[in-house]
Amino acid sequence: MSTAQPPRFDEAALAQFEQLVAWRRDVRRFKPDAVDPALIDRLLALACLSPSVGNAQPWRFVKVESPERRAAIRANFVASNAEALQDYHGERARLYAGLKLSGLDVAPVQIAVFCDGQTTAGYGLGRRTMPETMQYSVVAAIQTLWLAARLLGLGVGWVSIIDPAALKASLDVPDSWSLIAHLCIGYPVEESDQPELVRYGWQAREDWAGLVMVR
Ligand SMILES: Cc1cc2nc3c(=O)[nH]c(=O)nc-3n(C[C@H](O)[C@H](O)[C@H](O)COP(=O)(O)O)c2cc1C
Repeated sequence: MSTAQPPRFDEAALAQFEQLVAWRRDVRRFKPDAVDPALIDRLLALACLSPSVGNAQPWRFVKVESPERRAAIRANFVASNAEALQDYHGERARLYAGLKLSGLDVAPVQIAVFCDGQTTAGYGLGRRTMPETMQYSVVAAIQTLWLAARLLGLGVGWVSIIDPAALKASLDVPDSWSLIAHLCIGYPVEESDQPELVRYGWQAREDWAGLVMVR
């Protein structure tokens, strides 16, 4: 049992947290500047403190450093993005084609995040009726990493426009792992309190009150 004293968060801490949430962004435009590997390990250590079903900790992080593997992932994105464009027509297609939907070209750090659905950790607690909670747990870890990165002045971009089977093959990971996210990390070119997709007219923010109901 830990004997550490629990921290007391004051109003100033809450105000800073509100700013952190408001200024976290999905980043696709990165400076090429290298990131201290110790910072990345700090982020990963924090991410691993996230909640997980049964405390299964099913997150697995793959630091993608090989230029060949990076090239394969970039080609995977380019092909997947071209296919996705086919789903849109007219003005939407024009808008889509103008969006920058990954930072794979410049981001100095790339981390693929997987869920190990076969881990025995957690002894199945909580996932009998909802096995997908294993994947939700990994998303929770990514959110921790995303916020912590912002505190360190780093940006994170989540790339999902990718063929997951091809990405798994590119990284030679166990069959039982499923891809949750491919993350680009680095110093952002710009900062904003508005999502890029809002600024470029793709999708406005919904009013939060309209997303809540009472039964
Ligand atoms: C599950 C998930 C997948 C995403 N995939 C992509 C992606 O492939 N490309 C991209 O540009 N942004 C991607 N995003 C980022 C969203 O576009 C972004 O979170 C959203 O527009 C809101 O912007 P914000 O994160 O800056 O608040 C993804 C986000 C999530 C949560």
